[in-house]
Amino acid sequence: MGELSPLRRSRITGVGHYLPEHIVSNDEISLRVETSDAWITERTGIRQRHFSAPFETTAFMGAAASREALAAAGVEADSVDAIILATATPDQAFPATAVHVQAAIGAKRAFAFDISAACSGFIYALSVADSMIRCGQVSTVLVIGSEVYSRILNFEDRGTCVLFGDGAGAVVLQAKTGGEGAGILSTHLHSDGAFAEILYVDGAVGQRDRPGHLVMNGREVFRQAVTLLSSAVNEALEANGLTAKDIDWLVPHQANRRIIDGVGKKLGLPPERVVVTVDKHANTSAASIPLALYQAVSDGRIKPGQLILLEALGGGLTWGSALLRL
Ligand code: ACO
Repeated sequence: MGELSPLRRSRITGVGHYLPEHIVSNDEISLRVETSDAWITERTGIRQRHFSAPFETTAFMGAAASREALAAAGVEADSVDAIILATATPDQAFPATAVHVQAAIGAKRAFAFDISAACSGFIYALSVADSMIRCGQVSTVLVIGSEVYSRILNFEDRGTCVLFGDGAGAVVLQAKTGGEGAGILSTHLHSDGAFAEILYVDGAVGQRDRPGHLVMNGREVFRQAVTLLSSAVNEALEANGLTAKDIDWLVPHQANRRIIDGVGKKLGLPPERVVVTVDKHANTSAASIPLALYQAVSDGRIKPGQLILLEALGGGLTWGSALLRL
């Protein structure tokens, strides 16, 4: 949050991604749990997801996405000042997954740390990186979302195991001056721990013999999601004196097609201006926004100079939005 410095702002200069090789269709999931392609598609819009192999760790995928983002930006790894990785499924309690990415890509000058804000993690990481750039602490930051939710799913709970997938996305964020208004215009972050019990992992490395599985009250999350996301989106528009008509693309967190459509409708945005990848990736938590951004940038839909609105909600609850001109 806060006013934008007219002199120095942060711009996304490269986007990258990684998706595990193994694609799991709804029909395949229905061999493991009592469900059907029709139920999953109708309730969520999900048709398939990627599940990681043992070697495709959060760090491995984050590093792959980062290399692609750096190449797209034309930035060498040793020019990176900081690596901020959002994940709820880190490789280890410590060191942070971000330092493994640092070592893997050879970003020797950088400092690196993780952010835990569940599905809102990428917006949180982007917000922190943007603040650090604008205050002059750093000039080039890798912002990554990387997740292996397949490792925390309870395959006896059909209400949750069909919803998630694995993957990683990354952006290079760089300090720029001038540039006709391009860059991150605002970020707005929120959390409310009173909702902790509607979406959580029932264990952790700090708890003996309880690595944990994802637990969710889907109905309650759904109920909160459209309202809170719409308010975060309106907050971004109001802070910048804009209306939904000004937005070229909404790139929402990809949890559920019905949530995405609900927010789009409340905003009055036509579906053609909303990026949807939930059908192919399912919910990849902190990775879902950079993966969707990658998809729409690489297929030419999102173009330089366009106004992009990002929004996410996840366990915590945490939620927020970011408005940027590419
Ligand atoms: N296949 C078949 N039947 C199922 C499945 C399944 N995979 N899962 C649940 N059901 C059954 C239930 O057992 C129940 O059966 P019953 O009526 O005989 O008891 C019935 O379907 C309805 O169950 P509900 O949980 O009430 O189903 P609902 O219509 O709420 O849909 C869903 C569930 C899709 C999870 C929905 O609540 C939802 O989309 N919630 C949003 C949560 C979300 O997307 N979370 C992602 C993480 S948070 C985030 O990223 C924003």
